[in-house]
Amino acid sequence: MNIALFYFSATGITETISNHIATILKREGNSVKLINIITPDSRRFQYDFLEFDACIFGFPVFGGRPPKVAEDWMRTLDGRGQKCSMFFTYGARDLEWAHQVTYYLLTQANFQVVLSAEFIGKHAFNVAKGWSLAENRPNQLDFDIATDFTLQSIKRIQKDSEFGVDLSEFTYKPKKTIESRGSWANFYPSRVNDDCSMCYLCEKECPVKAFDAISGETNRKLCVQCMHCVTICPDKVIHTGEVSQLFKKFIDNFGLTEDVVEQKRSKIIF
Ligand SMILES: Cc1cc2nc3c(=O)[nH]c(=O)nc-3n(C[C@H](O)[C@H](O)[C@H](O)COP(=O)(O)O)c2cc1C
Ligand code: SF4
Ligand code: SF4
Repeated sequence: MNIALFYFSATGITETISNHIATILKREGNSVKLINIITPDSRRFQYDFLEFDACIFGFPVFGGRPPKVAEDWMRTLDGRGQKCSMFFTYGARDLEWAHQVTYYLLTQANFQVVLSAEFIGKHAFNVAKGWSLAENRPNQLDFDIATDFTLQSIKRIQKDSEFGVDLSEFTYKPKKTIESRGSWANFYPSRVNDDCSMCYLCEKECPVKAFDAISGETNRKLCVQCMHCVTICPDKVIHTGEVSQLFKKFIDNFGLTEDVVEQKRSKIIF
């Protein structure tokens, strides 16, 4: 089969899982087109999904759902009745609405969603000083689940029958909010010194065109705090503020002790 794997990845976790899935797909005799949709330009291209036998979509969870730009992108697609599976990476807190929102958007876009999965990944905010959640994920166990997810996806795509995904376990839970705008503001990145080679990557690859390479500042009205510019800057001169107090409140509020995080498992949703 010829499979297209579309993913959004800001700090590389969804990309790592996507690459693993692609390796398994190829090992099983399929060809794979990997397409990263992080830049605005990459999301403008109109795909004819009949060119592929099926698709896989992978997104990180931002605030309990896919990144808004990924949701907006899904609204532009016409899957032409093709089968797809979907997966998420999340930083060990919670996925909340991610499965349902994406299932709904892909179904509205005329795809048949046959399988879903969720994988724990290092929290994107770990790039900030004082934040450390699921630092060593995905681990071998997570990759094993990703292998199984790939094999199950192939099976469901190849069979003529229709498959559903049982999302009934994901009921809406009102969030306990701990944040005040002030403390989360420390996650807006900026360039902290002049050792910058002016490669413009931060500006070119920002998913929402929020980073200005010349001033080294982000437009706070646009920035979604995805941490992509911090991750990709070759000179490592883009940083966020110190967040250790906020991190302490966050893990207390959600009960995210090291043991709890360690016990969290990636899983397939059939
Ligand atoms: C803005 C933002 C919001 C996030 N919200 C959540 C969340 O609601 N629940 C969670 O468990 N992880 C959350 N995370 C962590 C990411 O889901 C996780 O690190 C993901 O694997 C990052 O994938 P990527 O590197 O491919 O972008 C968030 C990260 C960012 C940057
Ligand atoms: S990515 Fe880093 S090195 Fe490149 S222009 Fe931006 S701040 Fe400078
Ligand atoms: S400026 Fe904001 S939205 Fe743009 S890459 Fe950086 S963190 Fe992400």
